[in-house]
Amino acid sequence: MTIVRDISEQDAQAWRALWAGYNAFYETVLPPDVTAHTFNGLLDPSAPMIGRVVEVDGRVAGFSISILHACSWSIAPVCYLEDLFVDPACRRKGLGKALIEDLVELGREKGWSRLYWHTKAGNAQARRLYDLFVPADDFVRYRLKL
Ligand SMILES: CC(C)(COP(=O)(O)OP(=O)(O)OC[C@H]1O[C@@H](n2cnc3c(N)ncnc32)[C@H](O)[C@@H]1OP(=O)(O)O)[C@@H](O)C(=O)NCCC(=O)NCCS
Repeated sequence: MTIVRDISEQDAQAWRALWAGYNAFYETVLPPDVTAHTFNGLLDPSAPMIGRVVEVDGRVAGFSISILHACSWSIAPVCYLEDLFVDPACRRKGLGKALIEDLVELGREKGWSRLYWHTKAGNAQARRLYDLFVPADDFVRYRLKL
């Protein structure tokens, strides 16, 4: 059975393993305090972070992390899907799709005005999944490190 639900404290070990895989995918090593801060933010109901996990037969197999924020173009908040990852052993079983569908459903329920995300232009597997939802627009990203 597949379910998508809020992340909880009991998911710490499973989430950390998936998070390590996600970091490796991006060839990044985040300091342990950043990982701890992120996990605490996911558990904190007053933080604007939304952590959802997909569970298959009781085992956590993927996650999404989103940030809900205000928007100058709408009264309702918008949701930025920042991270999406599925255990490589569980791919092509519809779990990534289920994690995005879950956010669409959640957003409709809660009245968010938009859900958006971005990815590397060359991330073909993610883009095939994303194209099922909406075509990519023609914005480019500028990122200035401070
Ligand atoms: C991208 C990712 C989340 C997809 O997860 P997934 O559970 O395998 O995706 P799904 O099984 O829900 O795929 C749904 C559809 O997307 C497309 N798709 C997904 N992965 C694909 C692949 N490797 N090749 C071709 N199409 C793919 C297919 O249309 C697929 O439907 P189908 O299997 O019925 O043909 C997963 O590959 C992943 O974690 N990748 C590494 C991290 C990453 O790239 N995250 C996104 C960064 S922004």
